[in-house]
Amino acid sequence: MKLRYKITGAVLLLVTAGVAWLGYTLSHDSSCGQAPSLPGNAELMKAAVHRCYGPPDVLRVEDIEKPTPADNEVLVRVRAAAVNPLDWHYMRGKPYIMRMETGLGAPKNPRLGVDFAGTVEAIGKNVKRFKPGDEVFGGKFGAFADYVSVAEDQAVALKPVNLTFEQAGSVGIAAITALQALRDRGQIQSGQKVLINGASGGVGTFAVQIAKALGAEVTGVSSTRNVEMVRSIGADHVIDYTKEDYTQSGEHYDVILDNVANRSLLDNRRVLNAEGKYVLIGGGGPDAGPWIGVFAGPIKALVLSWFVSQDMGMFLADLNQEDLAVLRELMEAGKVTPVIDRRYKLSEIAEAIEYLEEGHARGKVVINLE
Ligand SMILES: NC(=O)c1ccc[n+]([C@@H]2O[C@H](COP(=O)([O-])OP(=O)(O)OC[C@H]3O[C@@H](n4cnc5c(N)ncnc54)[C@H](OP(=O)(O)O)[C@@H]3O)[C@@H](O)[C@H]2O)c1
Repeated sequence: MKLRYKITGAVLLLVTAGVAWLGYTLSHDSSCGQAPSLPGNAELMKAAVHRCYGPPDVLRVEDIEKPTPADNEVLVRVRAAAVNPLDWHYMRGKPYIMRMETGLGAPKNPRLGVDFAGTVEAIGKNVKRFKPGDEVFGGKFGAFADYVSVAEDQAVALKPVNLTFEQAGSVGIAAITALQALRDRGQIQSGQKVLINGASGGVGTFAVQIAKALGAEVTGVSSTRNVEMVRSIGADHVIDYTKEDYTQSGEHYDVILDNVANRSLLDNRRVLNAEGKYVLIGGGGPDAGPWIGVFAGPIKALVLSWFVSQDMGMFLADLNQEDLAVLRELMEAGKVTPVIDRRYKLSEIAEAIEYLEEGHARGKVVINLE
């Protein structure tokens, strides 16, 4: 009996020590490292890098080695990139659990950015879909740089002919998320009532237009200063959240796309039709709890959906070439037009991310590459 207690105690001690070690390791921030020295003959380019985790002032613009496209890759001269909340997650290494992938203590890959638009400068010997001079857009990690190298079958597609590089560079993550969340997860049907909470931000401004293109009756939720902008991009109704709580309106929706997660799941359920879908895509800024802050909503939604008739859950986007082509068609048909809020230079990347972190962007924040 005594031995069993001893063994149980030892196991508990080991588990506690293991959890404490994991907690310390995941949350530990190493100090900022130096840029590695480069081979003398290396071709260089400018890129935004962070050699430690932290707030925007850890960002630097450095000369790093210009990529050489592999046999199946295209080398894109980036003309414009866009900032997404994903960038500050990488920059801060939060939630901590993501560091198991991005690097313990400090980032394994110091580069940042995903959305881009630019011109194909060179191609690998097996590339068939693109040629030098093509104007393209898409998503590739490390896009806050003069060049990115992308596999030809990954998230890269010909740029919509009617869009500027700035506009096309702002499409990637936000528009793909809006499209997939509404079409695939929300399964929007023509004539359905759709509410978009956070209609004036990066994802929201695409979501309003895509939901309209899919034939929905759209209600957007925004602050007072954005009401007219959200109406101007096609929303049939706009709720000013400073004056009215959409979960208390008495109106019912077939799909709620939630970019903000500032109302409880039960409140959202109250304004969903019996077979309605609540699609949670985000919420929570840099001050959210670094451990489970951003996961609390999805976990609760998963549990709640087991007990109610509505479908409630988290959605994660997948950047792919097919959906970039769908978006290109919508944009060339004039059904979707990116909304650009602010423009920054690469040297102002810290200011750009700091602005996005405030949580009140009106559409997209773009980085112009000089
Ligand atoms: N799951 C995925 O795959 C995925 C993909 C992309 C993004 N996300 C997440 O989705 C979220 C939104 O991304 P984003 O790019 O659209 O961010 P964003 O561009 O920073 O937009 C934030 C928007 O939230 C609005 N907002 C703030 N407080 C609000 C409130 N109380 N009620 C209604 N709206 C409010 C702001 O509008 P006002 O200025 O009018 O307040 C602003 O327009 C982020 O959490 C992001 O991490 C998830």
